[in-house]
Amino acid sequence: MNLKPLYITVPFESKDGIFQPGIEAPGRTKPDWCIADKFFKENPTINWVSSAAEKKRVFWLQAGEQSKCLTQVEQVLKWLVKNGAHRGQSIAVVGGGTVLDIGLFAASIYQRGLYKWSLPTTLLACVDAGIGGKNGINFMGLKNYIGTITQPNIVVSDYRVLETLKPLDVLSGWMEMTKHGLIGNSNLWLKMKRFETIPKPGLIHKLIEEAAAVKQRLVEADEQESGPRKILNFGHTIGHALESAAAEQKKELPHGIAVGLGMLVSLHWSASRSDNQILQNEMIEAAEIIKRWLILEASNQVMSTVESANLNALWAIMKMDKKNNTQHVREVALTEIGHAVWNQPLSFEEFKTCWFGAHSEH
Ligand SMILES: NC(=O)c1ccc[n+]([C@@H]2O[C@H](COP(=O)([O-])OP(=O)(O)OC[C@H]3O[C@@H](n4cnc5c(N)ncnc54)[C@H](O)[C@@H]3O)[C@@H](O)[C@H]2O)c1
Ligand SMILES: [Zn+2]
Repeated sequence: MNLKPLYITVPFESKDGIFQPGIEAPGRTKPDWCIADKFFKENPTINWVSSAAEKKRVFWLQAGEQSKCLTQVEQVLKWLVKNGAHRGQSIAVVGGGTVLDIGLFAASIYQRGLYKWSLPTTLLACVDAGIGGKNGINFMGLKNYIGTITQPNIVVSDYRVLETLKPLDVLSGWMEMTKHGLIGNSNLWLKMKRFETIPKPGLIHKLIEEAAAVKQRLVEADEQESGPRKILNFGHTIGHALESAAAEQKKELPHGIAVGLGMLVSLHWSASRSDNQILQNEMIEAAEIIKRWLILEASNQVMSTVESANLNALWAIMKMDKKNNTQHVREVALTEIGHAVWNQPLSFEEFKTCWFGAHSEH
């Protein structure tokens, strides 16, 4: 069996509104079922999703972190059962990271797995969540605690759909792109850091492709995340703790922004571990650029998150992170821009010092 999904970037549909990507999938001309972000019900910009909806073949999902729960997965599974979906059939999941996480997880466990199309529609999902088969939901206030690693059969991106994204969601995706540059493609980072403001997705198709390629490469090298794939978690242990804390306080904090704030701390920590002044300067410069982007586009979220942060409480959540197998927090650190190492022990003292180093002047 071929585990490797097919990654393609083509229009989601032909001129007459017919599902297009099936042409690339032998024997699968169109999906039997579709799980789609409700956004496309209210904004019917993808014709074939609308026409599938008319045939009652679409389950509409409300995007957002609060939807990533067992109850929502159960509703999707019940819909599949009631409609008689069966294992020989295929399903397309269309949406941002939250819809893909719920939809692909449900489709992976339903009758032990349907044939799956992943169709990411946010910048973050095009470069990250839509790729790699790691899909899951939140549980007991902890991020992505329940899930599977099951590859989609095909990943299809159509960057034109990104034009309708809100600036905050573009920023969120830009942060994951930044992460991919910092951990695995210094050339990508060099190109990204020249942007004073966050560019519109229509101007950066090439960069989106390069950022997605970093994730594809790491997934192909280590599908089960036993080694190198772990570096994709750069900034995430802290980012996930910030997201959990925000959810508890009923505050909205987009994933990419939480990760951006986490990367600032991780960059300061990485710099503190290096004895090379040039590398240190490059990492601190990267932190300053990320901070400028975050404040420029999301000053409210950044200020409120940093001001309300309780480091003891964040640390308690970080110790619960799935990646830890001891009482220590295992973090990803950069050794230089474009190269990262995983499973590095981070102490509470280091976390506090680097947090203040990164966020003190807010
Ligand atoms: N599974 C993975 O490997 C992986 C990797 C990275 C992130 N994630 C997860 O992804 C989630 C974040 O994803 P996200 O940032 O895409 O959030 P999201 O799914 O909440 O989407 C953000 C917003 O964009 C809207 N939207 C979707 N497509 C649109 C379009 N084309 N035009 C306009 N609006 C559109 C959505 O309705 C939503 O309001 C987090 O839960 C994170 O944990 C998963
Ligand atoms: Zn992420």
